[in-house]
Amino acid sequence: MTRDQFIQALPKAELHLHIEGSLEPELLFELARRNRVEIPFSSPEEVRAAYSFERLQDFLDIYYQGMNVLLGPEDFYDLTRAYLARARQDNLRHVEIFFDPQGHTGRGVAFDHVVEGITAALDEAARDGGPSSHLILSFLRHLSEDEAFATLAEADSHLDKFVGVGLDSTEMGHPPGKFERVFARAGEMDLKLCAHAGEEGPPEYVRDSLDLLRIDRLDHGNRAMEDPRLVARLADSQMTLTSCPLSNLRLAVIADMRENPVADMLEAGLAVTVNSDDPAYFGGYLNDNYTAVAEALDLDRAQLATLARNSFTGAFLDEAAIAGHLGEIDSLLAGG
Ligand code: ADE
Ligand code: ZN
Repeated sequence: MTRDQFIQALPKAELHLHIEGSLEPELLFELARRNRVEIPFSSPEEVRAAYSFERLQDFLDIYYQGMNVLLGPEDFYDLTRAYLARARQDNLRHVEIFFDPQGHTGRGVAFDHVVEGITAALDEAARDGGPSSHLILSFLRHLSEDEAFATLAEADSHLDKFVGVGLDSTEMGHPPGKFERVFARAGEMDLKLCAHAGEEGPPEYVRDSLDLLRIDRLDHGNRAMEDPRLVARLADSQMTLTSCPLSNLRLAVIADMRENPVADMLEAGLAVTVNSDDPAYFGGYLNDNYTAVAEALDLDRAQLATLARNSFTGAFLDEAAIAGHLGEIDSLLAGG
């Protein structure tokens, strides 16, 4: 079995995926036509050519513009269904999906329509061979604390649909402390807590996510590697990190795939996972990300299996479900 075949055969979970970031240019065009939304491109190829980013903000500007074609529940359903079909191809058994409600309610789209469309596709996949899924409501950190509280209040009547909350968008200048009270409230509501930190922001943002936001999972975490005491703390607590190799490369968080922190994170005993972040914008889905790091860092089967194991142990799944998935990885390694 080649390395690519092994990556394909590995049962995996994806823990860091923004559903709006899975909007492929072809679907963007189809939805623009369906909803009569003007877009400043004349072909999917032209859209792809515009995906050249020097920093996170360059991407975010285009990502929010792309969302303008998502209006009704059927649009969110089509978007989610397309991602889940791709996830099945990559042998994903479980996905934990972020969505950005404020990117939609801010344009006049009803919160309920967003949730209805996404969950219809998730429920359909759960009935129809998988993957299983959880949904995570992500706050936009460039918006205010009040706006995050208002979004959490809208979520209150749908709490059975979410496993947790996240924090994304522009990192620099929007430190975790801005959302300390919102996260405390979400924790009281028994929601799991995730935050993007250390993607562009300094190690303090990672530390504040631990101390002030009391996160259960750390998204990205690259710059934690600059602080050995922080690395030791993350290793001791076995905090799950969701690394996104192709995203890091395309957003110039790293200059070369060989600079990817995944191997150093594994070496330091961190519970790191590999994820696609916004696959339609960064040139690859989950297996493409596994392949990219495996090639650049010359990862062996044991390391790849550890990444896949971490994706299940870091998922917000019950112990029996996790044990089932780990058992499948063990049988693959045993040649069964
Ligand atoms: N929203 C979607 N993808 C993101 C990323 N990589 N960082 C911050 N916010 C995001
Ligand atoms: Zn992300």
